[in-house]
Amino acid sequence: MKTLIKSGTIITSSETFQGDILIDGERIRLIGKNLDDAGAQVVDAAGKLIMPGGIDPHVHLDLPMFGTVSSDDHYTGHKAAAYGGTTTVMDFVPQGDRKLEEDIEIWRNKANPKAAIDYSFHMNITRLDNQVEKEISHLSGLGINTVKVFMAYNERLRLNDGEIFRVLRIAKENGLLTLLHAENGDVVDILTAEALQAGKTSPEWHAHTRPAWGAVETFLRGSALAAQAGAPIYVVHMNTAGEVEQLRYVRQKGLPVMGETCPAYLFFTTDHLRQPDGAKWICSPPLRTTEDNQELWNGLADDSIQTIGTDHCPFFFDGKKPIIYENEEIAIPGKELGANDFTKIPNGLPGVGDRMPIMWTYGVRSGKITANQFVAKTSTNIAKIFGLYPRKGALLPGADADIVVWDPDRRLTYGVAYSHHRTDYNLFEDWELVGFPEKVFLRGRMIVDGDRWLGKPGMGEFLIRGNPQIL
Ligand code: URP
Ligand code: ZN
Ligand code: ZN
Repeated sequence: MKTLIKSGTIITSSETFQGDILIDGERIRLIGKNLDDAGAQVVDAAGKLIMPGGIDPHVHLDLPMFGTVSSDDHYTGHKAAAYGGTTTVMDFVPQGDRKLEEDIEIWRNKANPKAAIDYSFHMNITRLDNQVEKEISHLSGLGINTVKVFMAYNERLRLNDGEIFRVLRIAKENGLLTLLHAENGDVVDILTAEALQAGKTSPEWHAHTRPAWGAVETFLRGSALAAQAGAPIYVVHMNTAGEVEQLRYVRQKGLPVMGETCPAYLFFTTDHLRQPDGAKWICSPPLRTTEDNQELWNGLADDSIQTIGTDHCPFFFDGKKPIIYENEEIAIPGKELGANDFTKIPNGLPGVGDRMPIMWTYGVRSGKITANQFVAKTSTNIAKIFGLYPRKGALLPGADADIVVWDPDRRLTYGVAYSHHRTDYNLFEDWELVGFPEKVFLRGRMIVDGDRWLGKPGMGEFLIRGNPQIL
């Protein structure tokens, strides 16, 4: 089947021009002006923007946590992503008490029948021994070229510095990229115990017990460990001004360090945790200050920060009250689990569907980043860093036809009704948007047409990724 998208404004990570795109089967065949193809179905994109499908490098679907599970699975999360213009997501495989290969197999079996857009995995390394070291060296053969390590979540996910150094060395030897969660687990544990002892149990204490200096210090420590291992590193969910300064510092020194931030860290602060519904904003690392928001924007604008992910990890605000999802009632225990104790609130925020529309209105239209930077940081840079370029993240002949036709004039009051996340709230409720995805194509097939969902479980493919690039 052929589709001809005609007369749009094509936006890539480096150029903006008028043109047409001919899709043949799953791929882009041609890009040019005044293209014609008698057999093609024509989509009139006059007045619209044409961009590569978004890639979200950081989502947690169906993730068990605190006796519940993140409320979007590999179907509902993919569907929400697609509505927001994202056609590829990368999820994290938890490490169990078995071989990494088996952990991946379990996660693939869970994701595969549900997947509605293309997807890939990062492997969490939360336990290290000689056997695990060997298994890490086989990951790229499974199409996974990224591992995530944690400097926080003591007794659960954290590795010590020596172990992180070992992972970085094996990663380097095998062409893998290491992702770092930068918070100081020891300080968090001490401050948390003290807060609870003093009866400070409200959501804002989640932020007070995870100080920004811990993120700054571990950002530099992680980068320094990577430098000593001769390995590249990618710091996920950057949240403080100090991290942006550290990123600039280590990159000026020539170190292969890259960074990701997420919309929540650009728009919200610890003040949101002080609201009566503060639990909605609980995530780790926590939300900081307006100065941090601003410096993260600066880091995006000056290209210190390479990517915008979401860390999508939604929970219901009130998991005792069902919502209607695809005509059925569903309720999944969520933030109410920690009504009397912030340490029991499952940490994570919805966001996969919000990222592109929110960043368009409040990033591009507000003049904070350019349209080309928007494409670079929500798609192209991510494809390059994670070994998917030019199959993904590119509007080029031969690339997968993952395409968003964007209506730059559509005005709407955003919120839970538009985001399609399987949860009962949206962080951007009632925000005014100008510009929204109109049609979304996944490998040549239209999966979103206005408000209509045309995707299906099982349509998404697991992506075998190639070598990461350092940007
Ligand atoms: O609060 C968050 N971000 N939950 C997901 C886990 C993580 O560290 O990314
Ligand atoms: Zn993390
Ligand atoms: Zn995460």
